[in-house]
Amino acid sequence: MSREEGLATPVCVRDVERLGTQLLPRASLDYYRSGAGEEQTLRNNREAFRRLRIRPRVLRDVSIRDLTTTALRKKVAVPFGIAPTAMHRLAHPDGEVAVARAAERMGAVFILSTLSTSSLEEIAEGAPRATKWFQLYIYKNRSVTQNLVMRAERLGYEALVLTVDAPLFGIRWADARNKFHLPPHLKLANFTEPEESDGVRDRSDKGSQLQAYVTDLFDQSLTWDGISWLKSITKLPIILKGILTKEDVEEALKYDISGIIVSNHGARQVDGFPATIEALPEIVQAVDGRCEVYLDGGVTQGTDVFKALALGARMVFFGRPALWGLAYNGEDGVKTVLDILRNEFDLTLALTGCASIGDIKKEMVVPASYYSLL
Ligand code: GLV
Repeated sequence: MSREEGLATPVCVRDVERLGTQLLPRASLDYYRSGAGEEQTLRNNREAFRRLRIRPRVLRDVSIRDLTTTALRKKVAVPFGIAPTAMHRLAHPDGEVAVARAAERMGAVFILSTLSTSSLEEIAEGAPRATKWFQLYIYKNRSVTQNLVMRAERLGYEALVLTVDAPLFGIRWADARNKFHLPPHLKLANFTEPEESDGVRDRSDKGSQLQAYVTDLFDQSLTWDGISWLKSITKLPIILKGILTKEDVEEALKYDISGIIVSNHGARQVDGFPATIEALPEIVQAVDGRCEVYLDGGVTQGTDVFKALALGARMVFFGRPALWGLAYNGEDGVKTVLDILRNEFDLTLALTGCASIGDIKKEMVVPASYYSLL
């Protein structure tokens, strides 16, 4: 291997990010990378992980390590999966199919976005053995959403992930400046009607065309009754994504949901929301074992996975790192990201005296202030 090739071989997610982002056209990069407003929450999603310390145990037999866990009672190879993000074909022609295939190869959960540029059907065919969940938005025209739900169920998706933090989209300054829109060769592939499939362009003469699409088509009047409606049309387990308060946990648990993803929508909604790892303990305490709790936002290292699990998450998801991997090298690039995180997490287990996920204890992760005596 030449020195140049060696330098180009990523050893951490940050390397993949550097390599992937170099290859993305400006508007796509801005779309994926941006958070809302000044991006304090975006930075804090990552930095809050760095304010936590790991208290390791030693001299435990870590010669054999088991990274498996279960999600919704199904065994998965690793306690992390791929969060739903929109429009993967902006990053690579193979789009969401490549990402789902990489997840399939790892045995990790893949969550497909409603706003995908490959359809539910293409993913089901391209990654038949992947554990697939489908992320849902509720459209004003309920029959649009109902159609998605029926197809997800029929095609073997194993859960619906209802995003509850996005009656509207937040203002992402770069997208507003770029008047972000889908290029003519791409469609939102889950829809047949042009209103939904071709709607992320030419909607308004200012700002992000995606933001305008959401304003026009998503149901801003949605309330908790929407969960009852969803339950009336599907038998799939329902996971709510975007809960950040104990008050909403209490509401959510009235509806017999199967899981909650502690998420601030990749810091893309309101600048000033807490980092997800900051919000996690409140949610875990309020849930008190009554449903599964997951987290997304700011996960870039195996140690982040460890910290979230110690604080009570059953599994974590990441969105942007998969996009950087996809831009860098398609399916193999996403697999590279998954491998990096798997290796880092495995090593973190070994070096903290854990042979399995069950060995990760709450007292092993503390805020930096725990060490403030000096
Ligand atoms: C899509 O969910 C987005 O945040 O742009």
